[in-house]
Amino acid sequence: MSSSEQEPECDFPEIPVGPLSVMDDCWMVGRRNPESMLQCNTYIRTFRQFGGRRNVCIDPGSCLDFEFVRSNIEQLVGSLHDVHGMTINHQDPDVAGNAPWFCDGNPEIEMIVSEDVWRLLRHMMLSPGKLRLTAGRTRSISTQQPFQFVPTPFCHFRGAMALYDPEQRILYSGDLFGGLNSPGKVHLLATEDDWAGIAQFHQLYMPSREILRHAVREIMTLQPKVEIIAPQHGHVITGDLVGLFLERMHELLVGSDLLSSEWDTESLSGYTDLLKSLVDCAIEERGELNVSGRINSLEPFDDLHTHLRLKNRDVILERDGYSALAKVFARLVDGEAGEYARKLSGAVVQASEGLGLPIPPAISGTFGSWEERNP
Ligand SMILES: [Fe+2]
Ligand SMILES: [Fe+2]
Repeated sequence: MSSSEQEPECDFPEIPVGPLSVMDDCWMVGRRNPESMLQCNTYIRTFRQFGGRRNVCIDPGSCLDFEFVRSNIEQLVGSLHDVHGMTINHQDPDVAGNAPWFCDGNPEIEMIVSEDVWRLLRHMMLSPGKLRLTAGRTRSISTQQPFQFVPTPFCHFRGAMALYDPEQRILYSGDLFGGLNSPGKVHLLATEDDWAGIAQFHQLYMPSREILRHAVREIMTLQPKVEIIAPQHGHVITGDLVGLFLERMHELLVGSDLLSSEWDTESLSGYTDLLKSLVDCAIEERGELNVSGRINSLEPFDDLHTHLRLKNRDVILERDGYSALAKVFARLVDGEAGEYARKLSGAVVQASEGLGLPIPPAISGTFGSWEERNP
């Protein structure tokens, strides 16, 4: 990875700035924002043909980041006028917000999207010079059309369309394989530790494991084999992590899986143990009266009493362990300092590792969500 020689713009050490090289002729030009838990990745891929260059933007990104994206593109290729093509995975504002600027910058720009995406995207009053709509998977590529289109339905939009560049073996996967990051941890290339943020992001935004399994199977059949996954959020996945994260994604429970009664019943005893670890830690710190008062109270009106009750330090969990855990944690840390929340979070994370159960993002603390509320 390389970066331009700009001064860091904030107090976080080692924040990459400027265009970041994924490989020759492929750059990530989105903003790295150390204060955000969600980095938006925009890519510029340059195709060299007949002595000329064709620059294609993959996922133009969020309006919040536009000045960074524009500056990075200017350093790379000259100006927005020199971006000849643009692809958009789906119509979310963090993906497509900057699209009008690209259309203004180059009125001749060619836009490539799926039909399902365009049906909604057209309401942004976009005016690309040329519009190419894709429907279904393609296997062949040409000089004019160098990507294979890989539909990834419901990941997380019905018409989401990943792009495969077989020349560089890079899959531009949109939100699929995107991840949250801890504040300040905005490096471009993923490490194994970044899986936690990827899992959390998918548990929040992807509808079900079956949907993910379909996408993983499609990716596994691509030829030549995918060597790099470049998602629209978080980190670029390379090397052995590609196979490892594909395997993990195939098994990950997300979205509606976490609400299903079957899974809930199976995991009830595991969540009882997790809740017990949390409650024990809280009692040790704040005493039984404080903890039982917070958990057994009928206020706030979060329906916690329909999930569980606390009787003589014993957790009696009836249903919905995943969401009960989030509610108990929220009650225990309400109005408390970050240090206490960190301690409780540590107890849950440690217990969950042995049980292999997902933890709601608000509890993991990995992404600073409770630190924002409990400074
Ligand atoms: Fe999205
Ligand atoms: Fe996104």
